[in-house]
Amino acid sequence: MTTTDPAQTFYERLALDHVDEMIAAISDPRVGTYIGGDAAVAPDAIRARIERVLEGPDVASEIWLNWAVRHDGVVIGWLQATIFQVDPSERWAEIAYVFGQPSWGKGLAAAGVRWLLATLDVPEAWAAVHPGNARSCALLERLGFARSAPTRTLPSYEPGDVTFVIRRAREN
Ligand SMILES: CC(C)(COP(=O)(O)OP(=O)(O)OC[C@H]1O[C@@H](n2cnc3c(N)ncnc32)[C@H](O)[C@@H]1OP(=O)(O)O)[C@@H](O)C(=O)NCCC(=O)NCCS
Repeated sequence: MTTTDPAQTFYERLALDHVDEMIAAISDPRVGTYIGGDAAVAPDAIRARIERVLEGPDVASEIWLNWAVRHDGVVIGWLQATIFQVDPSERWAEIAYVFGQPSWGKGLAAAGVRWLLATLDVPEAWAAVHPGNARSCALLERLGFARSAPTRTLPSYEPGDVTFVIRRAREN
């Protein structure tokens, strides 16, 4: 098993400067298999997606947060979150993550999602996963997510997806 030194990994707020490196990392049919196919990971689609997420949401009740993951000096992945601020006392998030194939199987994505959850610090986080995406399901379960029918409207949900939730224990 390859182990990962987290000190070699940096999470950078996504910027237009990352476009070319992100294309190099994730424009790969293997990456697109469960997230929209070849079209979703075509260079122009990645560029357009980054430009759109950097514009931000059209509604005040959402916050879009994106990070490029740099490991050993190279961009290897993308961490994504939408925070929904329902009212001042209720916040939850939907997360997603995309890593380049050469970095799979090393625990780098799991470390990234663990970092994302700690950074978001929300009481409830959801993810929607294609049922065939065994790697993504295993990652979420390893981090303590539970399979659950959605009780929120998840923007990235596609019919048939498996949905996962992790809830922080309430503080007394
Ligand atoms: C989903 C995705 C992020 C999962 O990546 P991954 O590398 O399999 O996930 P992890 O980081 O949890 O790595 C797990 C593997 O690393 C191994 N590993 C090695 N060192 C480890 C460590 N320190 N900690 C945890 N796992 C470690 C595990 O044993 C496991 O090995 P296995 O694949 O042989 O079972 C990746 O496949 C991907 O980006 N796919 C394309 C986009 C996508 O589908 N995104 C999800 C949309 S819902």
